[in-house]
Amino acid sequence: MSDTTTTSRPAAAGDSSGVGIRLENVTKVYPGQPTPAVDAFSMTVEPGELIMFVGPSGCGKTTTMKMINRIIEPTSGTISIDGRDVLSLDPNELRRHIGYVIQQIGLFPHMTIGENIAVVPKLLGWSKKRTADRVEELLETVQLSGDFAQRYPRQLSGGQQQRVGVARALAADPPVMLMDEPFGATDPITRERLQAEFLRLQESIGKTIIFVTHDFDEAIRLGDRIAVLSERSRIEQFDTPAAILAAPANDYVRSFIGHGAALKRLALIPVGEAPLGPMTDAGAVAVSVADNLRDALDLLVVNGSPTIAVVDRDGRALGSLSMERISAALGVEVADISRPGGAR
Ligand SMILES: Nc1ncnc2c1ncn2[C@@H]1O[C@H](COP(=O)(O)OP(=O)(O)OP(=O)(O)O)[C@@H](O)[C@H]1O
Ligand SMILES: [Mg+2]
Repeated sequence: MSDTTTTSRPAAAGDSSGVGIRLENVTKVYPGQPTPAVDAFSMTVEPGELIMFVGPSGCGKTTTMKMINRIIEPTSGTISIDGRDVLSLDPNELRRHIGYVIQQIGLFPHMTIGENIAVVPKLLGWSKKRTADRVEELLETVQLSGDFAQRYPRQLSGGQQQRVGVARALAADPPVMLMDEPFGATDPITRERLQAEFLRLQESIGKTIIFVTHDFDEAIRLGDRIAVLSERSRIEQFDTPAAILAAPANDYVRSFIGHGAALKRLALIPVGEAPLGPMTDAGAVAVSVADNLRDALDLLVVNGSPTIAVVDRDGRALGSLSMERISAALGVEVADISRPGGAR
């Protein structure tokens, strides 16, 4: 390592808030393969950003991610974290400062759950007390308190093991997290809960995170920006969820969004951002400003009335919402829904 003053602290280690990541023309050709698995991939991630990689199986998501912590060495190109070239750092040291949730969970079978979570803190020389406190705190975070710490991975369900994988990656509070389909093995209800918990956590810790998923809805819900990838990790579009939903770059991106793009956009807009109508128009049913416009639409449809009331967090009436006003919030022409063949 060339920089002796920071030997034990590469990549802004110890500073738990996020740092920037930059990949430039990063290419990976696996030995014996005629085409690269990742071809000239470039991306700049701002400190504290949560970036989602979405793309089909085999497009190069895992390969791209593993080059950042050098589990896979790039064939060419440069990668820097916090402005420092990761290829110049000691790979083992580098990995201790990057949380990594691998796609196949990969817990150590001969270690208890508690020991699994403590792996990196131990390598970093944390005291027993500090490590034990951290393990307990994390098990609570991923809702596995009780006797889980003493159990072995084989005594947990797939989804529970996956949560341990997330806890293990968070253990030493690394500034960068690479998460490869971390919630893939969980049922929809657990997944929803983990996503909510993860968002809450990210709000308070603000790490720089790259998160791989097959699930576009998960990408919309969690991501600050989404990279839609095709073969060889080619970036088809890289933008905020709202921008991608409003203006997909091409048919490929459109196919990833799937059905109901307008409804997905509505879910990203808080009721408070819509142009509210007069209170006199308000119906008997009310939606809160804290809800989103998809919730509002849901209420309108279920209620069958042309308008609903909008109330603040204390239940005080603020105005009203109609279908037209919800459409206006999306920036679409307000269509005449009574006209045959009009809005659909
Ligand atoms: N060690 C290897 N040797 C040769 N080819 C490999 C190796 N690892 C991966 N590949 C190939 O590289 C391409 C990208 O693989 P990668 O694991 O990055 O895909 P992915 O986008 O993560 O897919 P998935 O969504 O299925 O996890 C695939 O075609 C894969 O077969
Ligand atoms: Mg993968």
